[in-house]
Amino acid sequence: MEEFTVAAPQTPRVRPRRLRRSAALRDALGETTLRAAQLVHPLFVRDGSDTERPIASMPGHAQRTVDRLDGEVDDLADVGVRSVLLFGIPDEKDDNGSGAWDSAGPVPRAITEIKRRDSAVTVIADVCLCEYTSHGHCGVLDERHAVVNDATLPLLARAAVAYADAGADVVAPSAMMDGQVAAIRAALDDAGHVDVAILAYAVKYASAFYGPFRDAAQSAPSFGDRRAYQLAPPNAREALREAKLDEEEGADMLMVKPAGPYLDIIHRVRESTDLPLAAYQVSGEYAMLKAAAERGWIDEPRAAMESLLGIRRAGADLVITYYAKAAARWLSQGVAV
Ligand code: PBG
Repeated sequence: MEEFTVAAPQTPRVRPRRLRRSAALRDALGETTLRAAQLVHPLFVRDGSDTERPIASMPGHAQRTVDRLDGEVDDLADVGVRSVLLFGIPDEKDDNGSGAWDSAGPVPRAITEIKRRDSAVTVIADVCLCEYTSHGHCGVLDERHAVVNDATLPLLARAAVAYADAGADVVAPSAMMDGQVAAIRAALDDAGHVDVAILAYAVKYASAFYGPFRDAAQSAPSFGDRRAYQLAPPNAREALREAKLDEEEGADMLMVKPAGPYLDIIHRVRESTDLPLAAYQVSGEYAMLKAAAERGWIDEPRAAMESLLGIRRAGADLVITYYAKAAARWLSQGVAV
């Protein structure tokens, strides 16, 4: 019978654990950072006055009228969050979403008010029709109820110019219409807004994680869904194609949305362009973390910070998140991930 011996266990020469032994070493060697200035805080602005309606599925967030925004603006300045993303909730909706370019609508008025309160804030205005159309789709419809791409472009461009006129620094088209970035760039330039930047929702998936947002913005489609214009979740090459097109059309920054379920896409887009990249941790991602934390199933600060750090590690420069304010506070308190 053949004899065999078991080798004596080797003591490892290479030990990665040596560099994890102290908090100081771990801090010094952290490869990814998260700073308050990299976070963007979404705000929902309603028509009307003196109203603040909490959003049940997004604890800590509310629909606010313009006269109720100052507290939020001050809080953000206190914690070092420098950017906001605005969504409007009009009282009146119609087939064409004409409220989207009403200069007296909630978003233009909010832009003016935020800039008056703190001119250093970067104000980003979401550009879409879904909050303003009676049917809740992101563009105008034909007689067969299909969303018509080209007829929607001038309407998005008009909304973008209205927000730029009110003082927006950045407009963020999210309707997923082909050619929307080019149409908006041309309209902004014609109107003299050559310095207003475009953050393109270049890669926006048809996602179930937008559920709470559609309650918050009262923008759920009244029939059908958005799969005929938003990206299909299985597709990654198509995401790169969308990103390239928006870059060619003149986008200044690109966005991937949602963030958590699409970290691979963030990474791939990051590798494929030199433009700054944003990722949107959407309402459903926030709601999941909140719900688990409320049940005591996860440690909220650590889990939320880990999710944001993951998005940064994947390659996002900016993170749009409903956790912006809380995360900035946790950062200043030294919450370790
Ligand atoms: C469209 C828009 C949506 C979100 C941002 N812009 C909703 C949609 O496409 O249905 C979702 C954001 C979120 O879920 O947090 N204007």
